[in-house]
Amino acid sequence: KTYIVRVPATTANIGSGFDTLGMSLGLYNVVQFVPDENVKLEDTMIDAEGEGVDQITTGLDNMIIKAMDVTASKAGRTLPGGSMYLINRIPFARGLGSSSAALASGVFLANLLMGEPFNRKELLDITAEMEGHPDNAAPAILGGFCMALIENGNVVAERIDIPSQWKAVVAIPDFELHTEKARAVLPASYVRSDVVHNIGAVSFLMAAFMYNKPEYLKFGLDDHVHVPYRLGLIPGSEEVIRSSVKAGAYGATISGSGPTIIAFSPSDKAHLVGESMVSTFKHHGITSSYIVLDFD
Ligand code: HSE
Repeated sequence: KTYIVRVPATTANIGSGFDTLGMSLGLYNVVQFVPDENVKLEDTMIDAEGEGVDQITTGLDNMIIKAMDVTASKAGRTLPGGSMYLINRIPFARGLGSSSAALASGVFLANLLMGEPFNRKELLDITAEMEGHPDNAAPAILGGFCMALIENGNVVAERIDIPSQWKAVVAIPDFELHTEKARAVLPASYVRSDVVHNIGAVSFLMAAFMYNKPEYLKFGLDDHVHVPYRLGLIPGSEEVIRSSVKAGAYGATISGSGPTIIAFSPSDKAHLVGESMVSTFKHHGITSSYIVLDFD
């Protein structure tokens, strides 16, 4: 028997919603697994195609295997290994939720193999605990546009739908930026004016999506908590954001912890927006490619 799971890419933060907001995108990793009772979980054979095939780790160093192991032990079980085939479409370490996708697929797979002892909310708790913040995990597991926070170790999450005529245009630079590095540049505390600014920004961000008011995005994406500190890690990013708006996007920001820049765009402008972002990156010596995506 082959078990198959499919998990979406996700974009976290959406400007002002640092560590709290995220959305799923129509770009997926697929994991196929054939269990074999004679093989230990950590001895699972892994083969892959697509993104990062030369970086695939094995055993418990592999995030999918690790997540399967953690999920099984939460249920007081051990799982067999077997053979695994990965179809990777989400680029690694680019701010598109590849680590959440790996963790979520392991958690889902383990749950399927055990006859589904956990519900979706419990699967989200396990994934978010492993990742440390819930903003990619929630949309990876629930889909849509999610708000999430952690209270007493439990994830509280809510999903809302995104206006269907909006597109996400992601410009993906050809270099990796690891979340650890992008978190290390953030201050440990903030002044009141920045906190107040972000409370206002996130309120308008929600209104933009919930009431289909794209004109509010420029306020909602104007973050004072992480974006200003990270722009310097991504050459040309400020200009890329500006060029996307000039080309017709409603607004743009860093996707997750970067280096991808995500623009929200009406569908008829999406390709112009993508081309303009890529050529602006190029102007700053950065090779990138763009993809126009639906929201999941
Ligand atoms: N909220 C996280 C961050 C997302 O911005 O650091 C990246 O995993």
